[in-house]
Amino acid sequence: MRIGVLTGGGDCPGLNAAIRAVVRRADEYGWHTIGFLNGWAGLLGDGMPRPLEPADVSGILGLGGTILGTSRTNPAKEPEHMGEVAANFERHGLDALVAIGGDDTLSVASKLFDSGLKTVGVPKTMDNDLSETDFCIGFNSAVTTVTDALDKLHTTASSHHRVMVVEVMGRDAGWVAVFGGLAGGADYILIPEVDVPLDKVCDSLRRRRQRGKDSSIIVVSEGAKFPDVEVEISDGATDAFGHVRLDRRNVGETVAREIERRTGFETRTTVLGHLQRGGSPSVFDRILATRTGAASVDYVKEGRFGHMAALRGTEVVPVPLRSVVARTRTVDLDLWELAATFY
Ligand code: F6P
Repeated sequence: MRIGVLTGGGDCPGLNAAIRAVVRRADEYGWHTIGFLNGWAGLLGDGMPRPLEPADVSGILGLGGTILGTSRTNPAKEPEHMGEVAANFERHGLDALVAIGGDDTLSVASKLFDSGLKTVGVPKTMDNDLSETDFCIGFNSAVTTVTDALDKLHTTASSHHRVMVVEVMGRDAGWVAVFGGLAGGADYILIPEVDVPLDKVCDSLRRRRQRGKDSSIIVVSEGAKFPDVEVEISDGATDAFGHVRLDRRNVGETVAREIERRTGFETRTTVLGHLQRGGSPSVFDRILATRTGAASVDYVKEGRFGHMAALRGTEVVPVPLRSVVARTRTVDLDLWELAATFY
């Protein structure tokens, strides 16, 4: 047996741990693994294969990024590109392909499965917005980075009696903002799922001052919207998959300027950006990646194609790729409301 593996979409800590698990479990079964470079781009043209032996994945468990490279190439945009992917299955003698990625990458894996190719998925996205799984690889490491940053920002905010606005990633779902904000003691959390008037945030900041708390931390997702503040897409730039680049909205800075204008409180902005996607995976992500990576190879062995290895509670279980990509999993609003207890 020969299985392919690729990593697609934005990188994050834990991808290498998943690649290692795929290669090692496949080797245990006496199979060969071929890595494809740079996401779905690695299966276009003649393909960009890289044979992976156990020695090639030695020492990468704790390494951030992905040894295979990644991209947001979307072959589903052009029918002939889907044909090229299918031709590369043939050309490289693949019996199955493991796609490690988020909704974009897995939506392609799901379409390929529907067209008759043997694909399985591993859930990776620091946004944590894939349906059917409790957690995705990369999320825990990202929120650990956010929490460390908030711990640091609390001390400087307090010394200068300032409001600090911290912009975090999260296109359609505020998981990073809510988990990072809860763990880091945020004084307001603003997420794409709930449009909060900024006046309400300002009132909360004023009440905090009246209670003698003269510094505050506001966490805002890059995709947050407000009924009383215009946040523009500055230039309409998109990534390769076709998504509008949310970093160009400057939502953190816009919110900070408005808070300062409306309250008179000195306010600063920190954009955590790609720091959230860098560095070593957390313990949780190493274990999640190891379990789901190995499970994906087991699914190939069992003939369970068109499935993704999902974490449900403490179990790793197969779920249909079609259900995974059918909708974005938004934040559990109970968690967001819990944060308000501490404002
Ligand atoms: O992978 C998803 C994500 O983390 C989004 O939250 C964010 O909008 C995007 O990546 C930014 O990615 P890049 O700068 O690599 O295009």
